[in-house]
Amino acid sequence: MEPTLIAPKLVAVPQAIPEKVLTTERVGISRRTHEEHLKLWQGYANKTNEIRKALAELDVDPAKANQIYSAMRALKVDYTFAYEGLINHNIYFETLGGSGGNPNGKIAELIQEAYGSFDRWVADFKSTGIAGRGWVYLAYDHEEKRVFNYIGDAQNTFPIWNHTCVLAMDVYEHAYFLDFGTARAKYIDAYLQVIDWDAVNAKLPTGA
Ligand SMILES: [Fe+2]
Repeated sequence: MEPTLIAPKLVAVPQAIPEKVLTTERVGISRRTHEEHLKLWQGYANKTNEIRKALAELDVDPAKANQIYSAMRALKVDYTFAYEGLINHNIYFETLGGSGGNPNGKIAELIQEAYGSFDRWVADFKSTGIAGRGWVYLAYDHEEKRVFNYIGDAQNTFPIWNHTCVLAMDVYEHAYFLDFGTARAKYIDAYLQVIDWDAVNAKLPTGA
């Protein structure tokens, strides 16, 4: 019996950089950088949809799957790169364009609890950003009920189960090269001044 085909659910493609994000020009992260970045963000959404459509139409006969190369393998591996790329950028742009500096609300308490002080968290976050090849994720761990700065290389490394990512800093060169050249540390210093902590708090799960 042929497996039933269903229409794939598609993601919304971002159409514009949120207005508040453009205020990062005050710290040197330019409109031009964001406008170029939007094209990449859209690319992750478009490719997510393309893969979902391809999977919906794929012949899923297990005899055709192969761990060295197969359509199933190629689609499933690249799917996480595309979809995680979309999610990472959603979080990046949702939590950018605030007043930065000291956090407020519940996230301030969670940072204090996990790192002892905001200064220590900043040093850890910045250091993680320099040590990473693509991302830093501040995520809430539902197992231990605390936050941690995770390192990311590609779009799909290294998320972890049972966490909620509440802040994602893009440290791929496209996020800063136009404005800061290779000086990633200066970009991170600027980024820290424009985090939207209210948006971060809003992403925390209920009961965190
Ligand atoms: Fe990016």
